[in-house]
Amino acid sequence: MAVFVIGAGQMGAGIAQVAAQAGIETYLNDISEAYILKGIEKIRTLLEKNVAKGKISAGEKDRILSGIKPALSLDDAKDCDLVIEAVIEKIELKQEIFSRLDKICKSETILASNTSSLPITEIAAATARPEKVIGMHFMQPVPVMSLVEVIRGLATSDETFGSVEELSKKMGKVPVEVKDVPGFISNRVLQMMINEAIYCVYEGVASPEGIDEIMKRGMNHPMGPLQLADFIGLDTVLYIMETMYKGYCDSKYRPCPLLRQYVKAGWLGRKSGRGFYTYQ
Ligand SMILES: NC(=O)c1ccc[n+]([C@@H]2O[C@H](COP(=O)([O-])OP(=O)(O)OC[C@H]3O[C@@H](n4cnc5c(N)ncnc54)[C@H](O)[C@@H]3O)[C@@H](O)[C@H]2O)c1
Repeated sequence: MAVFVIGAGQMGAGIAQVAAQAGIETYLNDISEAYILKGIEKIRTLLEKNVAKGKISAGEKDRILSGIKPALSLDDAKDCDLVIEAVIEKIELKQEIFSRLDKICKSETILASNTSSLPITEIAAATARPEKVIGMHFMQPVPVMSLVEVIRGLATSDETFGSVEELSKKMGKVPVEVKDVPGFISNRVLQMMINEAIYCVYEGVASPEGIDEIMKRGMNHPMGPLQLADFIGLDTVLYIMETMYKGYCDSKYRPCPLLRQYVKAGWLGRKSGRGFYTYQ
């Protein structure tokens, strides 16, 4: 069994880590070797922390790291059984990658997307194997969060669904089946709350700290919505809101203008050092 992960960012690195932890031969790809190595370094740091905390042994850390192989070209996916794509949330890019994978991979290979909101059916239409295309929506941080939303496109076969369900369990996750609608369940519900919290900042109703404090203390949320938005990445939050706005043709999903402004300014949250909060 071999898995090929595309995108070594916040999500892709985490997905590669849990795959390798499950003893699966794992390949990690990105647009340059530097990005791949940065992703692997992030995994190493997390694993070293787990060794220090006594959660895993140093030998286990080395085994996991040696199970992740950098892959500079998509052509390296040709013999893999499953590809999990985790590049940025842009439909044109995902379709282009899936169309290329369709020609590169063996006919049995399942092609999965970790998209947060984009239609799996539309991504699958870029291939000649829509029955083998599926959504595997991991949560951040991947090594910690147990959920995988498994999204069936219009043509996804029962066999593909069954294989992905089994594999998700092997990776230590709990798969939950969802239909192919914009935002699925997780983001259809979550992003509405985040967007509303951003509107509250925009309208000056309370400070980001105040809003987060209210949701943590009053609703028992482990993180406030703005802290969570920074953690997800404000560009990703905007892409998801735009997908839902277009997908449902309903104004209730309109992204807050302040969110657009932050993204245009390059304030993407934790990953860029500044969002609703600042980071070292
Ligand atoms: N951030 C979250 O909390 C979260 C949660 C679930 C799902 N997702 C989804 O996961 C995907 C990735 O999100 P992220 O937060 O990891 O983003 P990110 O910006 O941290 O990482 C994206 C990575 O993709 C790489 N990339 C871009 N174009 C590429 C290409 N053509 N080939 C290979 N690699 C390429 C980038 O270099 C970058 O390393 C998105 O679809 C997002 O919606 C994100």
